[in-house]
Amino acid sequence: MILTIDGPAGAGKSTVARALAKRLGFQYLDTGAMYRAVALAGWRRGVDWRRPDELVQVASGLHLELIDDRVLLDGEDVSRAIRTPEATAITRYAADDPAIRARLVALQRVMAQRRNVVTEGRDQGTVAFPEAECKFFLTASPEERARRRLGDLRRQGETATVEEVLESQRQRDDRDAARPVGPLAKAPDAIEVSTDGMTIDEVVDRLVELARRRVELPPKTEP
Ligand code: DC
Repeated sequence: MILTIDGPAGAGKSTVARALAKRLGFQYLDTGAMYRAVALAGWRRGVDWRRPDELVQVASGLHLELIDDRVLLDGEDVSRAIRTPEATAITRYAADDPAIRARLVALQRVMAQRRNVVTEGRDQGTVAFPEAECKFFLTASPEERARRRLGDLRRQGETATVEEVLESQRQRDDRDAARPVGPLAKAPDAIEVSTDGMTIDEVVDRLVELARRRVELPPKTEP
């Protein structure tokens, strides 16, 4: 069974998707981490960002694994390296490229095969898994999203102001929505949930309740 969670950056998707997967005994698929890892690999190999074919070349030779909460790039744990502000800024080179998107969507489908999965990203309910049994679209106000992002950055030891975070968030939103292939979009059959003012547990409770109304959730088994 596949549950998808799409929505803009900072709506709480990752935390909620991880907690929901745990609650249901599903695998969690963090697809943003895949775009981040491809961009990181390109940066490390010194690709010329003006030459998309170079990044496609790098992507085609990569071995990407998502194991629990860890992201492995050719066997190396890059879970932290892909989340620095620098890595976040270059991720668009991977996310904007149609060839890389096609490759990663194919990989996401393989990873979800014969599994119960909570998958999270921008195009999961629309492009990667249009047939998913239950789809959510998480939102939150720009201010709340920026506050959460700032909290995440501070925990990572980074400094930024609310204004800076709001501005880069606005640019990312515009970019995510304008992408010709796999843009941020709500699937027609997705349930929209605003997470403003809700705790993670409250959001997860709500999603479980909504999912139960739509599908018969499989009994929880040990992964
Ligand atoms: O969710 P995130 O912030 O880790 O995602 C990183 C970037 O990757 C973000 O700018 C949007 C992009 N992305 C995407 O285009 N498609 C996805 N399925 C997931 C993320």
